[in-house]
Amino acid sequence: MQEQIDLYGEQIENSKINTQEELEEFRIRYLGKKGIITRLFEDFRLISNEEKKKTGSQLNLLKNKANEKYLFFKEKLSHAFQQSFGDLTLPPDAIPLGSRHPVSLIKKEVISIFSKIGFTVAEGPEIEDDWHVFSGLNFPLEHPARDMQDTFFIEKDPDILLRTHTSSVQVRIMETMKPPIRKIFPGRVFRNEAISARAHCIFHQIEGLYIDTNVSFADLKQTLLFFAREMFTEKTQLRLRPSFFPFTEPSAEVDVSCTICGGSGCNVCKYTGFLEILGCGMVDPNVLESSSIDSQKYTGFAFGMGLERIAMLKYHVNDLRYYFENDVRFLSQFRSSY
Ligand code: DAH
Repeated sequence: MQEQIDLYGEQIENSKINTQEELEEFRIRYLGKKGIITRLFEDFRLISNEEKKKTGSQLNLLKNKANEKYLFFKEKLSHAFQQSFGDLTLPPDAIPLGSRHPVSLIKKEVISIFSKIGFTVAEGPEIEDDWHVFSGLNFPLEHPARDMQDTFFIEKDPDILLRTHTSSVQVRIMETMKPPIRKIFPGRVFRNEAISARAHCIFHQIEGLYIDTNVSFADLKQTLLFFAREMFTEKTQLRLRPSFFPFTEPSAEVDVSCTICGGSGCNVCKYTGFLEILGCGMVDPNVLESSSIDSQKYTGFAFGMGLERIAMLKYHVNDLRYYFENDVRFLSQFRSSY
């Protein structure tokens, strides 16, 4: 037995431990339940008393030696492990600042422009009923926007759907407020469209509504001109083209002079000098009446614009999909004071 103790004592001294794996191998080999030292202790019980006296203390020394070596390297390796992370007491790297989404920037800018002329913000639900999206806005029953191909329905009869425009908030406000009303409604809208560079099934709009006594089409024009010149440049010109929307009469589509060429003609405006930005009109008396507003006493105007559309004109990024993919390389290019 003495010979074995000497032999293993030497082996323990010479064993090289450089890694966690080697440390574990060492532990199993000498200190494990089936390891060498446990086995020697088992053999120890079988030897003569005389021999026990001689080897008992040697065996204990061997066990201590293995233990000490194990603990020493355990400590050393865990220290090395920590050091591989560098100095853990140093403050961490700063988290890089994010940037606002371009659509949020446009939204904030539009809100700030309209707030200068007394418009305040209101919001409505994205999940709506037929009344607020269509019927209350004078859409006839057979109107194509009510078709499943254009609208995401959640339930039929009664119709519950994702709003297709923020004009729905007009109806909600007219139900709850008495004129004068001077509000804008930003929000997400949904349409059943195939996703492409020019169309998306989710996008953002801002709707405006102004109802008071003696509100005229001239007020609408002037309000939109003020907006366009604040949003784009002081020289921006407006062009109104007659159009049709069920909830306004008369209605118009509004173009701004091209944000690239200023109106002289380029490939962005397809040499027309103008780019479309919004739809608008005088609130149809039917709409006022169905929200119990006296159409003899009050008149009003409304307008609605797509925020991605404005962002495209402002930032010259002409593929709608960029605004939804949230690629950090795209998003981090937008900075603003908003
Ligand atoms: N809701 C219309 C759309 O989504 C936009 C619009 C047009 C809003 C004319 C209006 C308006 O308030 O008067 O295309």
